Amino acid sequence: MKIVIAIDGYSGTGKSSTAKQVASRLGYTYIDSGAMYRAVTYYFLSNNIPFKKIDDLKEMLGACDISFEGTSVVLNGKKIDAEIRTMEVNHNVSPVSAISEVRAKLVEQQRKMGDNKGVVMDGRDIGTVVFPDAELKVFMTADMDIRAERRRKELEKRGIIESLEVIKENLKERDHIDSTRKDSPLVMASDAIEVDTSGLTLTQQIDKIVSMAESIIYEN
Ligand code: DC
Repeated sequence: MKIVIAIDGYSGTGKSSTAKQVASRLGYTYIDSGAMYRAVTYYFLSNNIPFKKIDDLKEMLGACDISFEGTSVVLNGKKIDAEIRTMEVNHNVSPVSAISEVRAKLVEQQRKMGDNKGVVMDGRDIGTVVFPDAELKVFMTADMDIRAERRRKELEKRGIIESLEVIKENLKERDHIDSTRKDSPLVMASDAIEVDTSGLTLTQQIDKIVSMAESIIYEN
């Protein structure tokens, strides 16, 4: 049988890289829910929509169509993989994802993507809100210094040079906003398994989650 795997946790704990490989090893579909929040953020920023000042964003959101082509994120027909990973988006994505209208739209779309199971989705509220019945829920954590260094390297690979201090401040600020927002705050689901990735390599993280998944898949 096919299952749903929910991977939640703080920014920079390696959720996306891990989830992508876990999906590929199991022949499942990988869905990066954070990329969807980033796409909405990019949509607001690039169209100069003052999202902090508008009370009813429903109409604006109606014109914002987000989809995936493989693992690429597509906004209104245009691939925007690089555009959603800038520091400008990093600074605005947590306030945008605290907006309930944004969450309602994306959660509905995410649930549809999981209808046929066989998906690995990573984010902040996947095990608590999007798929509360997911067969496997993982909550990833890691030391702040390690998370910041991983994020610095990831930005550097894409030609963006940023100091560890600035990155750390951004991670802390996002952790704070993500965990204290009213709608779907980042919390570990009571039935999630915590995986601290501080001392693990990417391969070890992937192996660990694949073996948890396989034991559930073959048990059923
Ligand atoms: O996973 P990420 O760092 O790309 O996510 C970017 C932001 O999107 C994160 O700071 C909070 C928000 N997010 C969310 O609120 N809910 C999700 N399921 C995924 C991401």
